[in-house]
Amino acid sequence: MSQTVPIPHGLPMDRDASPFDPPSQITRLRDARPVSPMVFPDGHQGWLVTGYEAVRQLLADTRFSSRQDIGILHMPYETPGMPAPTEPSPQMPGVFVAMDPPDHTRLRRKLIGAFMVKRMKQLEEHIIDTAERQLDELARLTPPVDLVTHFALPVPSLVICELLGVPYADRETFQANSAKFLEKDITLEDKMAAVGGLTTYLAELVTRKRAEPSEDILSDLAGDEDLSIEELVGIGFMLLLAGHETTANMLALGTFALLEHPEQLAELRADPDLVPDAVEELMRYLSVADIFFRYAADDIELGGETINKGSTVIVSLLAANHDPKRFDNPDTLDIHRKARGHLSFGHGVHQCLGQQLARIEMRAGFAGLLRRFPTLELAIPASEVRLKTDMNIYGVHELPVTWTETAP
Ligand code: HEM
Repeated sequence: MSQTVPIPHGLPMDRDASPFDPPSQITRLRDARPVSPMVFPDGHQGWLVTGYEAVRQLLADTRFSSRQDIGILHMPYETPGMPAPTEPSPQMPGVFVAMDPPDHTRLRRKLIGAFMVKRMKQLEEHIIDTAERQLDELARLTPPVDLVTHFALPVPSLVICELLGVPYADRETFQANSAKFLEKDITLEDKMAAVGGLTTYLAELVTRKRAEPSEDILSDLAGDEDLSIEELVGIGFMLLLAGHETTANMLALGTFALLEHPEQLAELRADPDLVPDAVEELMRYLSVADIFFRYAADDIELGGETINKGSTVIVSLLAANHDPKRFDNPDTLDIHRKARGHLSFGHGVHQCLGQQLARIEMRAGFAGLLRRFPTLELAIPASEVRLKTDMNIYGVHELPVTWTETAP
Protein backbone atom coordinates (compact mmCIF):
# COMPACT_ATOMS: atom_id res chain seq x y z
CA MET A 1 0.00 0.00 0.00
CA SER A 2 1.87 3.06 -1.16
CA GLN A 3 0.84 6.68 -0.65
CA THR A 4 -1.04 6.05 2.57
CA VAL A 5 -2.64 9.14 3.94
CA PRO A 6 -1.85 9.64 7.60
CA ILE A 7 -4.85 10.72 9.57
CA PRO A 8 -3.22 12.64 12.40
CA HIS A 9 -5.75 12.71 15.17
CA GLY A 10 -8.86 10.67 14.76
CA LEU A 11 -10.53 11.58 11.50
CA PRO A 12 -10.38 15.05 9.97
CA MET A 13 -14.12 15.27 9.98
CA ASP A 14 -14.69 18.84 11.12
CA ARG A 15 -16.40 20.96 8.50
CA ASP A 16 -13.83 23.73 8.25
CA ALA A 17 -14.75 25.94 5.27
CA SER A 18 -18.23 26.76 6.59
CA PRO A 19 -20.69 25.11 9.01
CA PHE A 20 -22.00 23.12 6.02
CA ASP A 21 -19.19 22.20 3.61
CA PRO A 22 -17.21 18.95 3.86
CA PRO A 23 -13.79 19.06 5.54
CA SER A 24 -11.29 20.36 2.98
CA GLN A 25 -8.85 17.51 3.64
CA ILE A 26 -11.54 14.97 2.77
CA THR A 27 -12.59 16.88 -0.35
CA ARG A 28 -9.02 16.96 -1.63
CA LEU A 29 -8.64 13.28 -0.95
CA ARG A 30 -11.89 12.45 -2.76
CA ASP A 31 -10.85 14.38 -5.84
CA ALA A 32 -7.39 12.78 -5.89
CA ARG A 33 -8.23 9.22 -4.87
CA PRO A 34 -11.88 8.42 -4.01
CA VAL A 35 -10.88 5.07 -2.49
CA SER A 36 -7.86 5.94 -0.32
CA PRO A 37 -5.68 3.91 1.98
CA MET A 38 -5.49 5.50 5.40
CA VAL A 39 -3.84 4.97 8.73
CA PHE A 40 -5.99 4.75 11.82
CA PRO A 41 -4.96 6.43 15.04
CA ASP A 42 -3.71 3.09 16.40
CA GLY A 43 -1.42 2.64 13.38
CA HIS A 44 -3.36 -0.04 11.56
CA GLN A 45 -4.20 0.48 7.93
CA GLY A 46 -7.64 0.76 6.45
CA TRP A 47 -9.53 2.59 3.71
CA LEU A 48 -11.47 5.79 3.39
CA VAL A 49 -14.12 5.88 0.66
CA THR A 50 -15.32 9.33 -0.40
CA GLY A 51 -16.32 9.24 -4.11
CA TYR A 52 -20.04 9.01 -4.90
CA GLU A 53 -19.80 5.99 -7.24
CA ALA A 54 -17.47 4.06 -4.96
CA VAL A 55 -19.59 4.74 -1.86
CA ARG A 56 -22.75 3.65 -3.67
CA GLN A 57 -21.11 0.50 -4.97
CA LEU A 58 -19.70 -0.33 -1.53
CA LEU A 59 -23.05 0.10 0.23
CA ALA A 60 -24.71 -2.19 -2.31
CA ASP A 61 -22.14 -4.94 -1.71
CA THR A 62 -22.86 -7.10 1.35
CA ARG A 63 -19.30 -8.43 1.27
CA PHE A 64 -18.62 -5.17 3.04
CA SER A 65 -19.88 -6.32 6.41
CA SER A 66 -21.79 -4.02 8.77
CA ARG A 67 -20.74 -5.89 11.88
CA GLN A 68 -18.38 -3.08 12.83
CA ASP A 69 -20.90 -0.35 12.20
CA ILE A 70 -21.89 2.35 14.68
CA GLY A 71 -19.37 1.15 17.28
CA ILE A 72 -21.81 0.34 20.05
CA LEU A 73 -19.12 -0.83 22.42
CA HIS A 74 -15.93 0.13 20.65
CA MET A 75 -14.49 1.67 17.54
CA PRO A 76 -13.15 -0.72 14.92
CA TYR A 77 -9.64 0.45 15.72
CA GLU A 78 -7.85 0.87 18.99
CA THR A 79 -9.14 3.88 20.89
CA PRO A 80 -8.01 4.90 24.34
CA GLY A 81 -10.38 3.60 26.99
CA MET A 82 -12.26 1.28 24.61
CA PRO A 83 -11.86 -2.50 24.43
CA ALA A 84 -9.32 -3.73 21.89
CA PRO A 85 -10.78 -4.08 18.41
CA THR A 86 -11.86 -7.64 17.79
CA GLU A 87 -13.32 -9.15 14.73
CA PRO A 88 -16.22 -9.57 14.55
CA SER A 89 -17.13 -6.90 17.06
CA PRO A 90 -19.41 -7.66 19.99
CA GLN A 91 -23.00 -7.52 18.86
CA MET A 92 -26.01 -6.18 20.66
CA PRO A 93 -29.03 -8.41 20.02
CA GLY A 94 -31.70 -6.76 17.86
CA VAL A 95 -29.49 -3.92 16.57
CA PHE A 96 -29.75 -5.05 12.96
CA VAL A 97 -28.01 -1.98 11.49
CA ALA A 98 -24.83 -3.68 12.72
CA MET A 99 -25.70 -7.15 11.31
CA ASP A 100 -25.30 -8.85 7.96
CA PRO A 101 -27.79 -11.04 6.10
CA PRO A 102 -29.37 -13.42 7.04
CA ASP A 103 -29.51 -12.13 10.67
CA HIS A 104 -30.18 -8.62 9.39
CA THR A 105 -32.90 -9.82 6.98
CA ARG A 106 -34.74 -11.77 9.67
CA LEU A 107 -35.11 -8.71 11.92
CA ARG A 108 -35.59 -5.98 9.32
CA ARG A 109 -38.40 -8.01 7.73
CA LYS A 110 -40.38 -7.77 10.95
CA LEU A 111 -40.48 -3.96 10.70
CA ILE A 112 -40.95 -3.32 7.00
CA GLY A 113 -44.77 -3.29 7.22
CA ALA A 114 -44.78 -0.74 10.05
CA PHE A 115 -42.58 1.72 8.12
CA MET A 116 -43.74 1.15 4.55
CA VAL A 117 -44.72 4.09 2.36
CA LYS A 118 -48.48 3.31 2.50
CA ARG A 119 -48.50 3.13 6.30
CA MET A 120 -46.54 6.36 6.55
CA LYS A 121 -48.93 8.14 4.14
CA GLN A 122 -51.77 7.19 6.50
CA LEU A 123 -49.89 8.89 9.32
CA GLU A 124 -49.10 12.05 7.39
CA GLU A 125 -52.06 14.14 8.62
CA HIS A 126 -51.30 13.15 12.18
CA ILE A 127 -47.64 14.10 11.84
CA ILE A 128 -48.62 17.47 10.36
CA ASP A 129 -50.91 18.01 13.39
CA THR A 130 -48.07 17.14 15.75
CA ALA A 131 -45.77 19.67 14.08
CA GLU A 132 -48.49 22.34 14.06
CA ARG A 133 -49.24 21.85 17.78
CA GLN A 134 -45.57 22.25 18.55
CA LEU A 135 -45.53 25.44 16.47
CA ASP A 136 -48.54 26.72 18.47
CA GLU A 137 -46.47 26.28 21.61
CA LEU A 138 -43.47 27.96 20.03
CA ALA A 139 -45.63 30.93 18.98
CA ARG A 140 -46.76 31.40 22.61
CA LEU A 141 -43.16 31.90 23.77
CA THR A 142 -41.42 35.25 23.96
CA PRO A 143 -38.39 35.29 21.66
CA PRO A 144 -35.48 34.76 21.60
CA VAL A 145 -35.91 31.01 22.06
CA ASP A 146 -33.87 27.94 21.26
CA LEU A 147 -35.39 26.23 18.23
CA VAL A 148 -33.78 22.90 19.10
CA THR A 149 -35.45 22.64 22.52
CA HIS A 150 -38.80 24.01 21.45
CA PHE A 151 -39.24 22.61 17.96
CA ALA A 152 -36.57 20.49 16.28
CA LEU A 153 -36.18 17.94 19.08
CA PRO A 154 -39.82 17.67 20.25
CA VAL A 155 -41.40 17.01 16.83
CA PRO A 156 -39.53 13.78 15.92
CA SER A 157 -39.44 12.71 19.58
CA LEU A 158 -43.23 13.01 19.90
CA VAL A 159 -43.75 11.12 16.65
CA ILE A 160 -41.36 8.23 17.38
CA CYS A 161 -42.68 7.93 20.96
CA GLU A 162 -46.21 7.59 19.74
CA LEU A 163 -45.31 5.11 17.01
CA LEU A 164 -43.26 2.91 19.33
CA GLY A 165 -45.50 3.31 22.38
CA VAL A 166 -42.82 4.98 24.51
CA PRO A 167 -44.34 7.51 26.97
CA TYR A 168 -43.24 11.01 25.92
CA ALA A 169 -43.14 11.91 29.61
CA ASP A 170 -40.03 9.70 29.82
CA ARG A 171 -38.21 11.73 27.15
CA GLU A 172 -35.58 13.12 29.47
CA THR A 173 -34.19 9.63 30.06
CA PHE A 174 -33.91 8.68 26.43
CA GLN A 175 -32.96 12.09 25.02
CA ALA A 176 -30.13 12.55 27.52
CA ASN A 177 -28.83 8.99 27.09
CA SER A 178 -29.06 9.16 23.29
CA ALA A 179 -27.17 12.47 23.22
CA LYS A 180 -24.51 11.03 25.53
CA PHE A 181 -24.20 7.91 23.38
CA LEU A 182 -23.54 10.05 20.30
CA GLU A 183 -20.66 12.03 21.82
CA LYS A 184 -17.37 11.47 20.02
CA ASP A 185 -14.96 11.74 22.92
CA ILE A 186 -16.79 9.56 25.37
CA THR A 187 -15.18 7.14 27.79
CA LEU A 188 -16.20 3.52 27.66
CA GLU A 189 -17.66 3.89 31.13
CA ASP A 190 -19.92 6.75 30.10
CA LYS A 191 -20.92 5.04 26.88
CA MET A 192 -21.86 1.87 28.76
CA ALA A 193 -23.81 3.97 31.24
CA ALA A 194 -25.77 5.64 28.41
CA VAL A 195 -26.48 2.28 26.73
CA GLY A 196 -27.37 0.82 30.13
CA GLY A 197 -29.75 3.69 30.91
CA LEU A 198 -31.60 3.15 27.64
CA THR A 199 -31.66 -0.63 27.70
CA THR A 200 -32.79 -0.92 31.33
CA TYR A 201 -35.62 1.47 30.58
CA LEU A 202 -36.59 -0.37 27.38
CA ALA A 203 -36.37 -3.84 28.98
CA GLU A 204 -39.01 -2.85 31.50
CA LEU A 205 -41.16 -1.28 28.81
CA VAL A 206 -41.13 -4.23 26.37
CA THR A 207 -41.67 -6.75 29.18
CA ARG A 208 -44.79 -4.80 30.16
CA LYS A 209 -45.91 -4.67 26.52
CA ARG A 210 -45.44 -8.42 26.14
CA ALA A 211 -47.81 -8.93 29.10
CA GLU A 212 -50.24 -6.11 28.25
CA PRO A 213 -49.99 -5.06 24.61
CA SER A 214 -51.38 -1.76 23.35
CA GLU A 215 -51.63 -0.29 19.85
CA ASP A 216 -48.05 0.46 18.91
CA ILE A 217 -45.02 -0.98 17.10
CA LEU A 218 -43.21 -2.26 20.20
CA SER A 219 -46.39 -4.05 21.38
CA ASP A 220 -46.79 -5.66 17.94
CA LEU A 221 -43.18 -6.82 18.05
CA ALA A 222 -43.50 -7.99 21.67
CA GLY A 223 -46.37 -10.21 20.53
CA ASP A 224 -43.96 -12.06 18.22
CA GLU A 225 -42.67 -15.01 20.25
CA ASP A 226 -39.82 -15.43 17.79
CA LEU A 227 -38.19 -12.30 19.29
CA SER A 228 -36.42 -12.44 22.65
CA ILE A 229 -36.68 -9.62 25.19
CA GLU A 230 -33.02 -8.73 24.43
CA GLU A 231 -33.82 -8.45 20.73
CA LEU A 232 -36.88 -6.30 21.46
CA VAL A 233 -34.71 -4.02 23.57
CA GLY A 234 -32.07 -3.74 20.81
CA ILE A 235 -34.71 -2.94 18.17
CA GLY A 236 -36.31 -0.37 20.48
CA PHE A 237 -32.90 1.17 21.22
CA MET A 238 -32.10 1.54 17.54
CA LEU A 239 -35.50 2.92 16.54
CA LEU A 240 -35.69 5.37 19.40
CA LEU A 241 -32.18 6.68 18.79
CA ALA A 242 -32.36 6.80 14.98
CA GLY A 243 -35.95 8.02 15.14
CA HIS A 244 -35.37 11.29 16.92
CA GLU A 245 -31.70 12.37 16.81
CA THR A 246 -31.22 12.36 13.04
CA THR A 247 -34.42 14.20 12.10
CA ALA A 248 -34.02 16.69 14.96
CA ASN A 249 -30.58 17.61 13.67
CA MET A 250 -31.89 17.97 10.13
CA LEU A 251 -34.69 20.31 11.25
CA ALA A 252 -32.37 22.55 13.27
CA LEU A 253 -29.33 22.56 10.95
CA GLY A 254 -31.67 22.81 7.93
CA THR A 255 -33.30 25.92 9.40
CA PHE A 256 -29.85 27.40 10.05
CA ALA A 257 -28.83 26.68 6.44
CA LEU A 258 -32.02 28.28 5.07
CA LEU A 259 -31.59 31.36 7.26
CA GLU A 260 -28.09 31.68 5.80
CA HIS A 261 -29.56 31.55 2.26
CA PRO A 262 -32.28 34.22 2.47
CA GLU A 263 -33.22 34.27 -1.24
CA GLN A 264 -33.94 30.57 -1.28
CA LEU A 265 -35.77 30.88 2.01
CA ALA A 266 -38.00 33.59 0.48
CA GLU A 267 -38.71 31.39 -2.54
CA LEU A 268 -39.69 28.48 -0.31
CA ARG A 269 -42.02 30.70 1.70
CA ALA A 270 -43.64 31.98 -1.48
CA ASP A 271 -44.12 28.50 -2.95
CA PRO A 272 -44.52 25.63 -0.43
CA ASP A 273 -44.70 23.17 -3.35
CA LEU A 274 -40.93 23.54 -3.45
CA VAL A 275 -40.59 22.03 0.04
CA PRO A 276 -40.23 18.32 -0.93
CA ASP A 277 -37.33 19.04 -3.34
CA ALA A 278 -35.82 21.44 -0.81
CA VAL A 279 -35.88 18.68 1.82
CA GLU A 280 -33.98 16.32 -0.52
CA GLU A 281 -31.45 19.05 -1.24
CA LEU A 282 -30.99 19.83 2.46
CA MET A 283 -30.51 16.10 3.11
CA ARG A 284 -27.79 16.00 0.45
CA TYR A 285 -26.16 19.29 1.33
CA LEU A 286 -26.04 18.70 5.09
CA SER A 287 -25.56 14.89 5.28
CA VAL A 288 -25.95 14.94 9.08
CA ALA A 289 -25.25 11.20 9.39
CA ASP A 290 -21.89 11.20 7.65
CA ILE A 291 -19.52 8.46 8.77
CA PHE A 292 -20.23 4.71 8.62
CA PHE A 293 -17.94 1.75 9.10
CA ARG A 294 -17.76 -1.49 7.18
CA TYR A 295 -15.15 -4.23 6.98
CA ALA A 296 -14.19 -6.27 3.98
CA ALA A 297 -15.25 -9.90 4.41
CA ASP A 298 -13.35 -10.76 1.20
CA ASP A 299 -10.72 -9.25 -1.12
CA ILE A 300 -12.78 -6.69 -3.02
CA GLU A 301 -12.05 -4.43 -6.03
CA LEU A 302 -13.43 -0.94 -5.54
CA GLY A 303 -12.69 2.15 -7.63
CA GLY A 304 -9.61 0.51 -9.14
CA GLU A 305 -8.15 -0.43 -5.74
CA THR A 306 -8.01 -3.80 -4.01
CA ILE A 307 -9.35 -3.79 -0.50
CA ASN A 308 -7.96 -6.78 1.33
CA LYS A 309 -10.10 -9.10 3.38
CA GLY A 310 -10.32 -7.95 7.00
CA SER A 311 -9.69 -4.25 6.26
CA THR A 312 -11.70 -1.65 8.08
CA VAL A 313 -13.40 0.74 5.68
CA ILE A 314 -14.74 4.17 6.50
CA VAL A 315 -17.40 5.71 4.30
CA SER A 316 -18.13 9.44 4.15
CA LEU A 317 -21.66 10.09 2.91
CA LEU A 318 -21.01 13.84 3.13
CA ALA A 319 -18.03 13.62 0.77
CA ALA A 320 -19.98 11.39 -1.64
CA ASN A 321 -22.98 13.74 -1.62
CA HIS A 322 -20.65 16.64 -2.50
CA ASP A 323 -18.86 14.79 -5.30
CA PRO A 324 -18.71 17.10 -8.36
CA LYS A 325 -18.74 14.00 -10.58
CA ARG A 326 -22.34 13.39 -9.45
CA PHE A 327 -23.74 16.82 -8.52
CA ASP A 328 -22.92 20.12 -10.30
CA ASN A 329 -21.64 22.84 -7.94
CA PRO A 330 -22.00 20.39 -5.06
CA ASP A 331 -21.04 22.84 -2.31
CA THR A 332 -23.91 25.16 -3.28
CA LEU A 333 -27.32 24.80 -1.69
CA ASP A 334 -29.85 24.84 -4.53
CA ILE A 335 -33.44 24.01 -3.61
CA HIS A 336 -34.30 23.65 -7.31
CA ARG A 337 -31.83 20.85 -7.77
CA LYS A 338 -33.18 17.34 -8.22
CA ALA A 339 -31.12 15.93 -5.37
CA ARG A 340 -32.79 12.51 -5.18
CA GLY A 341 -30.04 9.98 -5.62
CA HIS A 342 -28.18 11.49 -2.67
CA LEU A 343 -26.85 8.89 -0.25
CA SER A 344 -27.95 10.52 3.02
CA PHE A 345 -30.29 7.65 3.84
CA GLY A 346 -27.62 5.12 2.86
CA HIS A 347 -28.08 2.58 0.07
CA GLY A 348 -28.41 -1.19 -0.26
CA VAL A 349 -29.79 -3.58 2.36
CA HIS A 350 -29.31 -1.13 5.24
CA GLN A 351 -30.94 1.82 3.51
CA CYS A 352 -32.78 3.84 6.15
CA LEU A 353 -35.92 2.11 7.33
CA GLY A 354 -37.37 5.39 8.61
CA GLN A 355 -36.77 7.47 5.47
CA GLN A 356 -40.45 7.98 4.57
CA LEU A 357 -41.21 8.94 8.13
CA ALA A 358 -38.26 11.35 8.23
CA ARG A 359 -39.33 12.94 4.92
CA ILE A 360 -42.87 13.51 6.16
CA GLU A 361 -41.58 15.03 9.41
CA MET A 362 -39.16 17.33 7.62
CA ARG A 363 -41.72 18.47 5.02
CA ALA A 364 -44.31 19.18 7.73
CA GLY A 365 -41.70 20.80 9.98
CA PHE A 366 -40.10 23.15 7.44
CA ALA A 367 -43.39 24.06 5.72
CA GLY A 368 -45.09 24.82 9.05
CA LEU A 369 -42.18 26.76 10.52
CA LEU A 370 -41.73 29.00 7.47
CA ARG A 371 -45.47 29.70 7.16
CA ARG A 372 -46.05 30.45 10.84
CA PHE A 373 -42.90 32.51 11.42
CA PRO A 374 -42.55 34.82 8.38
CA THR A 375 -39.93 36.99 10.13
CA LEU A 376 -37.85 34.20 11.67
CA GLU A 377 -34.18 35.08 12.09
CA LEU A 378 -31.13 34.12 14.11
CA ALA A 379 -30.94 35.79 17.50
CA ILE A 380 -27.12 35.57 17.60
CA PRO A 381 -24.43 36.01 14.92
CA ALA A 382 -24.13 32.91 12.71
CA SER A 383 -20.52 32.50 13.78
CA GLU A 384 -21.66 31.96 17.39
CA VAL A 385 -24.01 29.06 16.65
CA ARG A 386 -22.55 26.03 18.45
CA LEU A 387 -21.94 23.28 15.91
CA LYS A 388 -22.03 19.60 16.81
CA THR A 389 -18.47 18.84 15.74
CA ASP A 390 -18.21 16.85 18.97
CA MET A 391 -21.08 14.49 18.08
CA ASN A 392 -21.39 11.52 15.75
CA ILE A 393 -24.46 13.04 14.13
CA TYR A 394 -23.90 16.60 12.94
CA GLY A 395 -26.15 19.53 13.74
CA VAL A 396 -26.33 22.48 16.09
CA HIS A 397 -26.46 22.29 19.87
CA GLU A 398 -28.82 25.26 20.06
CA LEU A 399 -30.35 27.57 17.48
CA PRO A 400 -31.39 30.82 19.18
CA VAL A 401 -34.03 32.46 16.98
CA THR A 402 -36.27 35.47 17.17
CA TRP A 403 -39.28 36.92 15.26
CA THR A 404 -41.51 39.96 15.21
CA GLU A 405 -44.75 38.41 14.01
CA THR A 406 -46.45 35.04 13.65
CA ALA A 407 -49.06 33.82 11.16
CA PRO A 408 -51.90 31.31 11.64
C1 HEM B 1 -30.42 3.31 8.69
C2 HEM B 1 -29.85 8.07 7.99
C3 HEM B 1 -34.17 8.91 10.08
C4 HEM B 1 -34.37 4.28 11.41
C5 HEM B 1 -29.95 4.52 8.25
C6 HEM B 1 -28.76 4.69 7.44
C7 HEM B 1 -28.60 6.02 7.27
C8 HEM B 1 -29.69 6.70 7.94
C9 HEM B 1 -27.48 6.71 6.50
C10 HEM B 1 -27.89 3.58 6.88
C11 HEM B 1 -26.91 3.04 7.88
C12 HEM B 1 -25.92 2.03 7.32
O1 HEM B 1 -25.88 1.78 6.12
O2 HEM B 1 -25.15 1.50 8.12
C13 HEM B 1 -30.98 8.71 8.52
C14 HEM B 1 -31.21 10.15 8.45
C15 HEM B 1 -32.44 10.37 9.02
C16 HEM B 1 -32.96 9.08 9.46
C17 HEM B 1 -30.25 11.16 7.87
C18 HEM B 1 -33.21 11.65 9.24
C19 HEM B 1 -33.16 12.68 8.49
C20 HEM B 1 -34.62 7.73 10.61
C21 HEM B 1 -35.87 7.58 11.33
C22 HEM B 1 -35.92 6.28 11.72
C23 HEM B 1 -34.70 5.61 11.24
C24 HEM B 1 -36.91 8.67 11.59
C25 HEM B 1 -37.05 5.73 12.50
C26 HEM B 1 -37.44 4.71 12.76
C27 HEM B 1 -33.31 3.63 10.79
C28 HEM B 1 -33.04 2.21 10.95
C29 HEM B 1 -31.90 1.94 10.17
C30 HEM B 1 -31.50 3.20 9.55
C31 HEM B 1 -33.83 1.22 11.78
C32 HEM B 1 -31.20 0.59 9.99
C33 HEM B 1 -31.70 -0.09 8.75
C34 HEM B 1 -31.02 -1.40 8.47
O3 HEM B 1 -29.91 -1.65 8.95
O4 HEM B 1 -31.61 -2.21 7.75
N1 HEM B 1 -30.51 5.77 8.53
N2 HEM B 1 -32.04 8.11 9.14
N3 HEM B 1 -33.95 6.52 10.56
N4 HEM B 1 -32.38 4.19 9.95
FE1 HEM B 1 -32.29 6.13 9.46
